[in-house]
Amino acid sequence: VSPAAGDASPPGAIGLVGCGTISPTYLRTLGAVPQLVLGGCADVDADAAAARARRYRLPAYPDAAALLDDPAIGVVVNLTPPAAHAAVCEAALRAGKHVYTEKPLAASFADGRRLLELARSLGLRLGAAPDTFLGPGWQTARRLVDEGVIGEPVAAEASFLSHGTESWHPQPAFYYGAGGGPLLDMGPYYLTGLVSLLGPVRRVAASTSTAFAERVVGTGPRAGERIPVDVPTHVAGTLEFASGALGTITTSFDVFTPRWSTIVLYGREATLALPDPNGFRGRMRLWSPASGRWQQLPLDPPARPIAERGLGVLDLCEAIAAGRDHLASGALALHILEVMHALIESARAGAHQLLTTTCERPARLSEVAA
Ligand SMILES: NC(=O)c1ccc[n+]([C@@H]2O[C@H](COP(=O)([O-])OP(=O)(O)OC[C@H]3O[C@@H](n4cnc5c(N)ncnc54)[C@H](O)[C@@H]3O)[C@@H](O)[C@H]2O)c1
Repeated sequence: VSPAAGDASPPGAIGLVGCGTISPTYLRTLGAVPQLVLGGCADVDADAAAARARRYRLPAYPDAAALLDDPAIGVVVNLTPPAAHAAVCEAALRAGKHVYTEKPLAASFADGRRLLELARSLGLRLGAAPDTFLGPGWQTARRLVDEGVIGEPVAAEASFLSHGTESWHPQPAFYYGAGGGPLLDMGPYYLTGLVSLLGPVRRVAASTSTAFAERVVGTGPRAGERIPVDVPTHVAGTLEFASGALGTITTSFDVFTPRWSTIVLYGREATLALPDPNGFRGRMRLWSPASGRWQQLPLDPPARPIAERGLGVLDLCEAIAAGRDHLASGALALHILEVMHALIESARAGAHQLLTTTCERPARLSEVAA
């Protein structure tokens, strides 16, 4: 139970910190929800904040400290790169703001744990991306699993395979430093989705490798700059869920393949090919021995008026106002962060790692108060 659950109060305006590549998605989505108030944005690069502010007709603060000083801001949405997540979240919590941060919760597990403890001690909400599992695709999967359509889950198979981000992202260095790599960057989508269906992970093991010692920026004003690679860029892991189900997860920035995202859940009676967890909708297919073929299933209608990044922020604001738990929670994000670090540590240590955190399966979005 989150500390603030039960203390219903209006959440206040949303202040956005970090006005880079993903910020327009949030500004567009959150700006379209009538009950949310966008109070303004800030960035270490004041020009970046000013540009977003102009485009979305918002106030720009000179820096994050000024945004945090504004009593009108009740919720901070942190869209900075992973290495800055902990410091920005901590400053916002200490300024008395509820916080929703992009993934991963923090670069290190220790920082993530400290943030969750701080939020709890201050009676503030801490929420974190991904929120894709709240979209129609994964909420339909959750209903199907809960209704027993595939029988008891036995195994899951997840893979995200790519050649990295430097061909399309103008500032890709963070993907190859602390808090980056394919597992910490893309793993949260796959792992959060699986935990939302299967419950927490108990134990993990992995092997890792790094095929390229450096990368070259491929686009934007930094094109041609070389980036050192400081993290594993291919991670092949196994997951043992507390339920007894087993999972395999492979994430890579090292390979060329047209088949880049796979996530399949095998039950005792049937198999569900799940939608891409990096999106909110997508294609869901069921295979059973009775039908002997893949059958495409319709998705349930969305439980909320938006199905894009920002849905978790809307849920957090609704949860504050309703005095209930929010679903893309800090506790869930901390468990996922520990799973990812435990996978990497297991490769270093050459041994299985037992998880120290656990979490509840988040409630279904259609079953909590808007
Ligand atoms: N780019 C994507 O497609 C994408 C998709 C989903 C999630 N995300 C996540 O969103 C976050 C941001 O990614 P991005 O691609 O927008 O990065 P980006 O580098 O394009 O933008 C980050 C912005 O944060 C600013 N910033 C850095 N440190 C700051 C600080 N201490 N205080 C205030 N501002 C600061 C930078 O100046 C920059 O404008 C990351 O956690 C990433 O994992 C990105």
